Amino acid sequence: MPAIAVVGAQFGDEGKGKVSHYLAERAHMVVRTQGGNNAGHTVVVGGRIFRLHTVPSGVLYPGCKSVIGNGVVVDPKALLEEIDYLRSEGVDTGRLILSDRAHLIMPYHKLLDGLDEDRRGQRRIGTTRQGIGPAYMDKNARLGIRVADLLDREGLREVIEEHVALKNDLLVKVYGQDPLSAAEIYEDYRGYAERLRPFVTDTARLVNDAIDAGERVLFEGAQGSLLDVDHGTYPYVTSSHPIAGGVTIGSGVGPTKIDKVVGVLKAYTSRVGDGPFPTELMDEQGDAIRERGKEYGTTTGRPRRIGWVDGVLLGYAARINGLTHIAINSVDVLAGFDTVKVAVAYELDGRRIEDPPANLRELARCKPIYEELSGWGDLGGTPAHRSELPASLESYVKRIEQISHAKVAVISVGREQGETIYVEDLFGKARV
Ligand code: IMO
Ligand code: MG
Repeated sequence: MPAIAVVGAQFGDEGKGKVSHYLAERAHMVVRTQGGNNAGHTVVVGGRIFRLHTVPSGVLYPGCKSVIGNGVVVDPKALLEEIDYLRSEGVDTGRLILSDRAHLIMPYHKLLDGLDEDRRGQRRIGTTRQGIGPAYMDKNARLGIRVADLLDREGLREVIEEHVALKNDLLVKVYGQDPLSAAEIYEDYRGYAERLRPFVTDTARLVNDAIDAGERVLFEGAQGSLLDVDHGTYPYVTSSHPIAGGVTIGSGVGPTKIDKVVGVLKAYTSRVGDGPFPTELMDEQGDAIRERGKEYGTTTGRPRRIGWVDGVLLGYAARINGLTHIAINSVDVLAGFDTVKVAVAYELDGRRIEDPPANLRELARCKPIYEELSGWGDLGGTPAHRSELPASLESYVKRIEQISHAKVAVISVGREQGETIYVEDLFGKARV
């Protein structure tokens, strides 16, 4: 039985939550492998809207285990608040599992995220200010504190004292801030430790055993391929690996065990935060899509930047992820436009190019070369099969398949879970 990875094929907010939720319904286990509470996944179940940040969407299904893998950076305070929120909504969080090797987001990470952004001024990244970047910095600098350390009563005080002393140097001498109290942080984290202890285990063992036992495992992506720290629009990226390769590192599962990689995209593109966006629409059409698509950040409430699908970036994302399938969301948001556009190449300094340049100053000079396709009207309900799509929408979907060299498995025509065409049952055999 397959293990499936779902990844964002754009700049995040592609509607991964909806696709993951559908797959989670059929999965034994849902695993998050990177990022943290910078993710904002909106899942609509039976008219109720759930907003998830660190907790995998599997939590909404009673029979499903939800795993926060070692690659995730965890803000224990935010995680406990999310658990409390879910419990208050009647959701059973008993099947939530947290890796003993996941790194913690500490109060100084969150503080430094904001201070660093302010210091960058015009050149800010536009981060979610949740402490994600500083936590991954410390992980790679070998100055991180892991869940296993959190549970180690004697060791925790020592490591917090040591790290807070280092960070206070930075806070006071570089940023002119007041120092933090290691004793207070220790007290708070001791409290979090006791509440989180029952959730903690060696998740790499757990996930591998589940796959080996033939269970259906879903790796739920966060952020998007173009925000990957290696392959995205660096430095306007997040600090982790939202692409398929990140799944193996962030869960401790080998690449041979992942059967399918599903890239999620919207029928248009959005980006929240700063950084290049060649197909961005700065006009009323962009505003109309933003309003219709309710494109405001789940985590930060920021209005998202809007543009057409960028086939250059989509082809690139398909390549670096090895996409086998795609899921297209929000086609309903574009209904009613006479025509829709897809960028198929760029013009850079008079030349036509088909791959995004690494140099951001060059990327900023790239002008999209668009293909214009006929628009589609209101679908007036959810077609049961892909074959019932209006011809113009079918052409659009086919064009996306050609660009990504991947098969469309899911087409979403509305926010509700039912407003979806499942072209292929990813955990089983083809339906159509
Ligand atoms: P989901 O999972 C969209 C963006 C931020 C910023 C950059 C770095 O909901 O798709 P960070 O706080 O990660 O250091 O910010 O990455 N970003 C996202 N954009 N969706 C997300 O998650 C994002 N997570 C981070 O806006 O540009
Ligand atoms: Mg989001």
